[in-house]
Amino acid sequence: MRVLVTGASGYIGSQTCLELLKAGFEVVGFDNLSNSSEVSITRVRELSGKPLRFEKLDLLDKAGLNRLLKEGFDAVIHFAGLKAVGESVEKPELYRKNNVEGTANLIAAMKEAGCRRLIFSSSCTVYGEVKKSPVDESHPRSAVNPYGGTKLAVEDMCFALARAEQGWHIALLRYFNPVGADASGRIGEDPRGTPNNLMPYVMQTAVGRHAAVRVWGSDYPTPDGTGVRDYIHVVDLALGHLAALNKIDDFAGAEAVNLGAGRGYSVLEVIAAASKAAGKKIPYEICPRRPGDSAAIWADPALAKKKLGWATRRGLEEMCADHWRWQRANPDGYGA
Ligand code: NAD
Ligand code: UD1
Repeated sequence: MRVLVTGASGYIGSQTCLELLKAGFEVVGFDNLSNSSEVSITRVRELSGKPLRFEKLDLLDKAGLNRLLKEGFDAVIHFAGLKAVGESVEKPELYRKNNVEGTANLIAAMKEAGCRRLIFSSSCTVYGEVKKSPVDESHPRSAVNPYGGTKLAVEDMCFALARAEQGWHIALLRYFNPVGADASGRIGEDPRGTPNNLMPYVMQTAVGRHAAVRVWGSDYPTPDGTGVRDYIHVVDLALGHLAALNKIDDFAGAEAVNLGAGRGYSVLEVIAAASKAAGKKIPYEICPRRPGDSAAIWADPALAKKKLGWATRRGLEEMCADHWRWQRANPDGYGA
């Protein structure tokens, strides 16, 4: 199977390219490098020992997309997009154009080239404010910020397309909280600027880039009072894409599937596990709640098990050990 991967040099894209190559797929990747480094692609080639063609290309370049898609692909895995929630509040139009219009361009090029198998990176953010977990795919959707709005809009675009035209097979994969890195420590998450997400901030604190982790709230109705999330190892997440690819023809039109572990960990549990992995006590301070945060959210992963035959295998200890190995070996990410 010949697969096109958009956002190939990014955090989840590079890990998925590696797993695809290891499994024997032929992979072509592209990215505009707005939030990633081509060094990740070089490392994926080294780790897999396989060729990986990579192009610098933007989703907004319609002619470029048409040219590339015409080469002929069996399926497209679409990771490319902007993902910073705070930035999306400041620049909603940039997010709409890049994520929604960019995906419309990709779909138009796929149509033109006769490729109708698509796997899209959606997010649990489409569930909006969640009152009760686990959350299954039938939970009502809403956008709590412009980034979330782009995920809803792309999901809706895919649902409408599949209703209007026969022959599409579209998997909308709703990721929970991806963390960790490849066990080699050679590829991993390299956030630009100060990370908003918990795990990269915790790991950067462990290497001395921040004085302490700020714990956003300890008065939630959770066992230790801190926020609970469904963390998923990025290797498990990448393997979820392979499972979806292998079952893509079972997707009749567009269907959404949660990719999560089905259990939650609190902020304090994450800091404790990361401290164990790093072999040092990672300092933290309790701060007020972050506006817009839910107390707790974790996935009902039953559909992924049933439809894809996939479930996570790596727990919090492995997520922290692997993330730490990457962070310690690459304290400044790919820029080092
Ligand atoms: P990432 O930023 O590391 O990867 C996304 C890649 O897309 C980057 O390499 C970026 O340069 C590229 N890109 C952005 N706009 C582009 C454009 N117009 N043309 C070409 N390339 C473009 O992020 P990631 O964590 O690997 O996320 C991958 C996908 O998964 C995103 O769509 C994201 O919204 C989604 N997602 C991520 C998370 C998470 O926590 N990491 C959670 C849920 C969903
Ligand atoms: C965030 C995004 C969400 C995105 C998801 C995965 C927001 C509001 N939501 O969700 O859209 O899909 O990432 O990328 O940004 N925490 C701290 N201190 C920190 C950072 C986080 O205590 O420095 C806490 C949070 O309050 C939360 C947990 O850690 O309880 C996880 O936070 P984070 O990694 O930002 O993920 P989400 O809030 O789930």
